Amino acid sequence: MCGIIGYVGKQPAASFIVEGLKRLEYRGYDSTGVAVVAEGRISVVKKIGRVAQLEQELAKRPLAGTFGMGHTRWATHGGVTDANAHPHVSSDGKIVLIHNGVIENYASMKTFLLGKGYTFQSETDTEVLGNLIAYHYAKAAESGEENRCLASVRKALRHTEGTYGIVVMCVDFPGEMVAARKGSPLIIGLGDGENIVASDVSAIVARTQSVVYLKDGEIVHLSAQEFRITTLGQSAVAPLVDRVTWSVAAAEMGAYAHFMEKEIFEQPTALENAMRGRFSEDGSTANFGGLNVSAGEFRSMESFAFCACGTALHACRVAEHMIERFARLPVECDYASEFRYRNSPLFRNTLYFVMSQSGETIDTLAALREAKRKGYKVLAVTNGVGSSIAREADGGIYQHVGPEIGVASTKAFTSQLLIGSMLALYLARMRDMSFSDGVTFVKALKGAPDLVRQALGQAPLIKAIARRYAHVRDMLFLGRLSLFPIALEGALKLKEISYVHAEGYPAAEMKHGPIALITEECPSVFFAPSGEILNKIISSMQEIKARKGPIIAIVTASVELPAGLADEIIVIPECHEAVLPIVASIPVQLLSYYIAVERGCDVDKPRNLAKSVTVE
Ligand code: F6R
Repeated sequence: MCGIIGYVGKQPAASFIVEGLKRLEYRGYDSTGVAVVAEGRISVVKKIGRVAQLEQELAKRPLAGTFGMGHTRWATHGGVTDANAHPHVSSDGKIVLIHNGVIENYASMKTFLLGKGYTFQSETDTEVLGNLIAYHYAKAAESGEENRCLASVRKALRHTEGTYGIVVMCVDFPGEMVAARKGSPLIIGLGDGENIVASDVSAIVARTQSVVYLKDGEIVHLSAQEFRITTLGQSAVAPLVDRVTWSVAAAEMGAYAHFMEKEIFEQPTALENAMRGRFSEDGSTANFGGLNVSAGEFRSMESFAFCACGTALHACRVAEHMIERFARLPVECDYASEFRYRNSPLFRNTLYFVMSQSGETIDTLAALREAKRKGYKVLAVTNGVGSSIAREADGGIYQHVGPEIGVASTKAFTSQLLIGSMLALYLARMRDMSFSDGVTFVKALKGAPDLVRQALGQAPLIKAIARRYAHVRDMLFLGRLSLFPIALEGALKLKEISYVHAEGYPAAEMKHGPIALITEECPSVFFAPSGEILNKIISSMQEIKARKGPIIAIVTASVELPAGLADEIIVIPECHEAVLPIVASIPVQLLSYYIAVERGCDVDKPRNLAKSVTVE
């Protein structure tokens, strides 16, 4: 939800900012802009469209200077117009700012500011905040206050309700930058004679790997040489400098056509990274550092609860299946956005998990806070090192899959599935699972990367299938047990990147409604792995076939379907139950990807979406 970057240093700001925006573009991409403060002037170039279009505009209207900021927008307040694009300059021309988040009390602020003579060029809440900062700045200037850029931001934020990650510069103090956050991520990159503020590390790794993660309620005041963090209440904060462990190459597309394609094919390595060092020496269970919950406490839990959004919620639903199946413990799964308002009754000995690739999803963060408010311990499964969710959780498990840039989650999802299975193993081994079953389970998990490699080998076949079905308007994804959430995920992947209407259903439930959609033009993707209920799944396929619905079957290697039942067959390797959802995800990721490519869609930046949803 909006990418922001600010730069103070000795290098030309605009070109560096544009490079950073390219890496942040996955956060929002309906309009972009850059501002540079130089020679007593704030110069802004902004327009609707992608960073590439901004770059063309900057070639015509170059911005010279070494202090500046840039923004890539996902519209909240106000439509997608040039005027609503950021940066916004206050009507007195003193203050320029960029913002990620939503200012909830912007209307009353605006009325106040109109009364004071400030004017507005856009419909955004951001411009209102900019003018409020300008108002406090003017008052501070009158009284000759020290540090007035910082002081005016602080005063304005004390009257601000909602969420923000902001970067502010003042025309009178080139070389100074103020940034603050509440609910929207911000990091500080510490360079050599330059400092950077950005929404995430991908925008800065080309220059520096030293970062400080700003916390909610903190303000940072930076120049090219130094930075100082304080709270809104003016207490000094001792910064904790971290090192980013991945390099800029991890955030580049390389030889692939899209980030999504790259990330799909990276999954064997991503899984290896997610499990590395996480099995016990005797090879019979999983081990996690950083849980901050003792084995005894885990043992005493009577139930578990998971909250997440979107794809991450589908991973939670698989974890629910695995924990119930192997550890025989009850698990609740909820949409984070519902949990936070539902006030549902909770069991006393329940351990909460939130899952979030980014670690910044606002609904998931709010669910975490709600569970903590009720006195529960909350652990996070996240890929976002240093993210808000990672910091606020009592402990957790990092996914360690490197940056995921394609908006549609793939490698993060399968690593979440892996971690869910590892948790199930950990809990099961504390209860009834034998040593030898534990060893078998661990071996199966360790074999997952190879099985995924084999499944990826079906890519040419799946591409050909995608060509045959790319024209359809509707598609059903049907699976049972642990593959029902993978059916949900398949449908989500397809609709979000190719705009084909798709629904995921438990295969047998399909006859209670969705079967009405079935025609020759509505294919069904069936998961049909070997196992006890294969015959039931085949019966559901027959019901679709009887209504002339095309069938794309994803079967495990030993399955033989009745002749002519499926129109297309994709074979994945036989595997342990704990690994099956991971391997079965590969064909639906590939199918969605190739259909979207075939339809000419912008795979990595689907319409209306953004990678990290930091607004409610
Ligand atoms: C879909 C997708 C989204 C995210 C959801 C939660 O491909 O990526 O549904 O899963 O927005 O995001 P995180 O995991 O960052 O909390």
